[in-house]
Amino acid sequence: MPLRSQMLLILLFFAAQGAHGGAKRQDDNLLVLTVATKETEGFKRFRRSAQFFNYNVKVLGLGEEWHGGENKRMTGGGQKIRLLKSALEEYAEKEDLVILFTESYDVIFASGPAELLKKFRQAKAKVVFSSETLIYPDRRLEAKYPQVQEGKRFLGSGGFIGYASHLYKLVADWEGLDSDSDQLFYTKVFLDPEKRTNINITLDHRCRIFQNLNGALDEVVLKFENGRVRARNLAFDTLAVVIHGNGPTKLQLNYLGNYIPRTWTFETGCTVCNESLKSLADLKEDVLPVVLIGIFVEQPTPFLTPFFQRLRKLRYPKKRIQLFIHNREEHHLDQVEEFVNEHGQEYRSVKVVGPDDHVENADGRNMGMDLCRQDPVCEYYFSVDAEVVLKNPDALRILIEQNKFVIAPLVSRLGKLWSNFWGALSADGYYARSEDYVDIVQGRRIGLWNVPYISSVYLIKGSILRSQFTQTDFFHSGKLDADMAFCHNIREQGIFLFVTNQQQFGHILSLETYQTSHLHNDLWQIFSNPEDWKEKYIHENYTAALKGKLVETPCPDVYWFPIFTNAACDELVEEMENFGQWSKGGNTDTRILGGYENVPTIDIHMNQINFEREWYKFLLEYIAPITEKLYPGYYTKTQFELAFVVRYKPDEQPSLMPHHDASTFTINIALNRVGIDYEGGGCRFLRYNCSIRAPRKGWTLMHPGRLTHYHEGLPTTKGTRYIAVSFLDP
Ligand SMILES: *[C@@H]1O[C@H](CO)[C@@H](O)[C@H](O)[C@H]1NC(C)=O
Ligand SMILES: *[C@@H]1O[C@H](CO)[C@@H](O)[C@H](O)[C@H]1NC(C)=O
Ligand SMILES: *[C@@H]1O[C@H](CO)[C@@H](O)[C@H](O)[C@H]1NC(C)=O
Ligand SMILES: *[C@@H]1O[C@H](CO)[C@@H](O)[C@H](O)[C@H]1NC(C)=O
Repeated sequence: MPLRSQMLLILLFFAAQGAHGGAKRQDDNLLVLTVATKETEGFKRFRRSAQFFNYNVKVLGLGEEWHGGENKRMTGGGQKIRLLKSALEEYAEKEDLVILFTESYDVIFASGPAELLKKFRQAKAKVVFSSETLIYPDRRLEAKYPQVQEGKRFLGSGGFIGYASHLYKLVADWEGLDSDSDQLFYTKVFLDPEKRTNINITLDHRCRIFQNLNGALDEVVLKFENGRVRARNLAFDTLAVVIHGNGPTKLQLNYLGNYIPRTWTFETGCTVCNESLKSLADLKEDVLPVVLIGIFVEQPTPFLTPFFQRLRKLRYPKKRIQLFIHNREEHHLDQVEEFVNEHGQEYRSVKVVGPDDHVENADGRNMGMDLCRQDPVCEYYFSVDAEVVLKNPDALRILIEQNKFVIAPLVSRLGKLWSNFWGALSADGYYARSEDYVDIVQGRRIGLWNVPYISSVYLIKGSILRSQFTQTDFFHSGKLDADMAFCHNIREQGIFLFVTNQQQFGHILSLETYQTSHLHNDLWQIFSNPEDWKEKYIHENYTAALKGKLVETPCPDVYWFPIFTNAACDELVEEMENFGQWSKGGNTDTRILGGYENVPTIDIHMNQINFEREWYKFLLEYIAPITEKLYPGYYTKTQFELAFVVRYKPDEQPSLMPHHDASTFTINIALNRVGIDYEGGGCRFLRYNCSIRAPRKGWTLMHPGRLTHYHEGLPTTKGTRYIAVSFLDP
């Protein structure tokens, strides 16, 4: 993206924002002063909120080195007074000018200049400071503080408002060091009765103007009204204009900042979320940013082959994608190798770290991220865990367009509340449920959310890896798990973690029941991951068949419709061949056919491969509904005693003599292709002298079992034919 067009977009946005915002015109009598040496994400949020309400803001100290100490409010902060004092010289004579001085890294505006000025005038003082529940930095000064009847007793220097001339008097005597405490300086001025009266200073005890969140979290709730959101202080029933996430309350400010000062309707979500939208649409493919996709297979994971298929379908030029694959599972070696061998060369580059490299989870993630960091060409790092089902092929583009340093698409377990973000942290840094968590997961609140934790899939800008996330070990921190360490390290850098649910992106697989004891373990996932099972194994035209389309009637009362994908057919056959204990066609199987004749087949039963629960579920979910459509008035429970795969071979058992089935109805699914895998085969219904000679792979026959549909299996003359047969409602 050429920088200039990006800037233009941002400027356009700001212009548009002003029109959106609450205030009609800038008030010439009000100026906002703040100190920010860096344009942090917090600062940009402050500036956006100021622009939203049309405040006139002047930033002091940008680009200057900060000498005010690490934790600038507890100790240090003197630099801010120095900068304020020198800025005020220009305004000292302006009688009418009101100046708001505020922090900006952790502050947002909740309302506009008109309300601010009105409340300031109502305070009946020339200078109004914010108030605090807690006294600092010197607790011994408590006795000197005037008593108050209601509200917070102590001064907070993070925000104050006053006439320019009086503010100038306030700081005129400052001669301290940049590293001295501003909080202590202003406290001492206030506690000096003479100065307090002369400068005419009061505190905003009831948080009408300033809401400091430290020590006040229980008092503050979001209040939604007429598309506007405010933070209401329940203790004083006030709606502050300036909200400050001071001390350890930064995450709470992030939470409030998700709603304030935006305008909201819950149907359409946030109306001004596209803050710095960046469009890729106009860019030619060969200049799209280079993205390194890190893929993490950290545990046995179902549906890995579909994962790679989706990766290939991502709408992004492969020549602009580098791949890093960290696979810790022996079990998945073949799938990873197959993908890399068949498609690796389509990508800009591919690097695989396999189970033999013995690289553990956090180290693998560090490696992936570092590959992007070390490569100046790498503009984005996109980390995707194998259990993420990213169904939206535009996911990567959408995330890039949001133009954030760190952003995740919301994915959750289907029908569950389990997702890849946390809305809040507990005191010890673990999961806590935010008030809006469920609404966000379930899509009742839509937007771009600043949250304390994301995982599983996220996009990071390469530039931030090279400027701020420079520590090569990003996924360790004390005893924290890799994902928590990652988020902790980002928060420590003052960088916001965003999650977006403005589009549908996909979901996360459930891994708990995945077992690796079979050849094709995905077949057993019908209970744990039913949607993914359906997508992999149920024929794409099954839904049409269910609506009565595409159902054929090759013989009287014999229905024929698509049910299985090729993958389902192939895996079932391979699973049976892998198991290998085909019945020999002897007496053991005569019981299965019941009826009038002993007609044994060469077969393996579903229960022999421990697949009967899953098969039953398949019959219930996919066969029962269609049965009830095609044979109206008949309600099946899809009970079965007999379900098996039959093998026909010229030199083994080529055909089956005429017989009835021990069922009310039977399904017979063709598992391979006539003319290619075998020749001959098919089924003949004697009563009607009617044959189906070219069974279609993945299609099933469904016909009554007893009485009318006496039938035979026609001879397979070449190759091997497989069918899956179930006798239902015996
Ligand atoms: C402080 O300022 C207010 C508002 O201008 C005024 O009403 C009040 O009399 C002043 N108090 C003192 C002690 O000067
Ligand atoms: C914001 O984004 C949404 C969804 O991408 C879009 O429909 C809307 O027009 C955008 N609004 C602005 C102001 O760009
Ligand atoms: C599904 O039906 C459509 C329309 O009849 C057909 O074009 C398509 O090939 C079918 N899909 C498969 C997998 O057979
Ligand atoms: C059965 O059908 C075949 C052709 O489909 C025909 O040649 C044969 O005569 C029929 N047999 C009877 C008994 O109707």
